Amino acid sequence: MKALYFEKFGGSEVLQYGEIPQPVITESEVLVKVDYIGLNFADIYRRRGTYHIEKHEPYINGYEGVGVIVEIGAKVTRQQVGETVLFVDVPFANAEYVAVQSEQAIQLPIEIDSQLAASIGLQGMTADFLAHDLGKNSPGEKVFITGISGGVGQILSQMLVADEIEVYGSASSAEKQALALSHGVKQVYPSRETSWVKTLEGKFATAYDGVGSTLQQSLALIQHRGKVVFFGMAGGDPVKIDPVALMSESKSILTGDLWDYLTSYEERKKRSERLFSYFSKGQIDISEPSVFSLADGRQAHEFLETGKSIGKVLLKP
Ligand SMILES: NC(=O)c1ccc[n+]([C@@H]2O[C@H](COP(=O)([O-])OP(=O)(O)OC[C@H]3O[C@@H](n4cnc5c(N)ncnc54)[C@H](OP(=O)(O)O)[C@@H]3O)[C@@H](O)[C@H]2O)c1
Repeated sequence: MKALYFEKFGGSEVLQYGEIPQPVITESEVLVKVDYIGLNFADIYRRRGTYHIEKHEPYINGYEGVGVIVEIGAKVTRQQVGETVLFVDVPFANAEYVAVQSEQAIQLPIEIDSQLAASIGLQGMTADFLAHDLGKNSPGEKVFITGISGGVGQILSQMLVADEIEVYGSASSAEKQALALSHGVKQVYPSRETSWVKTLEGKFATAYDGVGSTLQQSLALIQHRGKVVFFGMAGGDPVKIDPVALMSESKSILTGDLWDYLTSYEERKKRSERLFSYFSKGQIDISEPSVFSLADGRQAHEFLETGKSIGKVLLKP
């Protein structure tokens, strides 16, 4: 089968496209013929060698995809051949076929097609745990989201708006700012300049920060007893934080990794159903994904890495 792989860590130039052996499933796995693969910022960190990646020779990136089950293991009872499933935490996804543990395969409701599922799976499940397990905001509370028109940002902001939270955020371009406003966000500030930060200091219950280099700014934006929900470094590593300084203002930083919130079939089912229900009710609308052929994976990495994308980047085998 064809796959996108790399032999050493580095820039997008390390990515190669070629033939590798097709996976052989175990009795608890299903074999998925992949329709769409979700590209994520974590794949960039993995390619650079700065984030956990499953051992394999050569390395095969990617943990998120949607496809049709073409074979099931002898002990699999939850799924059937021919069903379309989503997975968000399965390694070696940058390939035509992926072996998926039955408990990691998520069934899709009729109204969610495979391209939409691949566009919202990992980022949507992330938005779900950030909002419902970490942020836990009450209706009427004010929150701030950095990178509000990125993939997680678009879903998280609309999820919170639907939950009656007052959402504010930052985005770099006029196009991204307009997009967030069209999603019911109250006000969007330019992310590449900071003159507005002073006027908003201490105004928010929670700042959701997946940009990372903005951590100090997010801490300034929250009120005493407020919290920063820190979940990524798309814009660069955060500064080191002094816990004593946090304590003196009763501010907290909460963090989380999606995989710790997807530890069983039941948890995947509960989270995916809650996520899909926002879409079924028409409460979340996302931009069209940018689709690259898997063979053009290098260009897709460069597109995501430079922050040019609005919404999801997909790879199609
Ligand atoms: N903790 C978890 O479990 C988890 C799971 C999934 C994702 N994440 C993290 O969530 C963050 C957002 O992920 P995503 O999939 O939504 O990515 P994305 O679609 O690429 O969005 C990231 C946003 O970050 C902003 N940004 C600011 N400075 C940037 C820079 N120097 N380069 C690139 N982007 C920059 C961009 O918005 P502007 O151009 O408007 O500033 C961009 O829209 C990432 O840090 C990712 O690692 C964490």
